[in-house]
Amino acid sequence: MILVGELLDLPPGESVRVHGEVAIAVFNVDGELYAIDDTCSHQDASLSDGWLEGCAVECPLHAACFDLRTGMPSGPPAKKPVRTHAVTVEDGMVYVHESTRVGSTVAEEVG
Ligand code: FES
Repeated sequence: MILVGELLDLPPGESVRVHGEVAIAVFNVDGELYAIDDTCSHQDASLSDGWLEGCAVECPLHAACFDLRTGMPSGPPAKKPVRTHAVTVEDGMVYVHESTRVGSTVAEEVG
């Protein structure tokens, strides 16, 4: 379990990057919290620096969009999903529960 910080510091429309075994991006979409691997599955770009569009984030480097609920890219140039992670809030503090699932496993589960 990774401490992200206070919920008040992650208002709707904002994102933050935290570090577990790998970097993880945490997003607040209209009060719903989502976490995915921060590094784009296409090349080395930080998805926490991307643009939120509904429940998806657009990669800042080549504009692939990833669904925050599934980690799946909507189209090229990214072909592989990123991992998704559970997020909980306890006493106003946000925590990420890092998944051990690799992207291909996520793809099979949602696919
Ligand atoms: S690095 Fe993200 S789409 Fe290319």
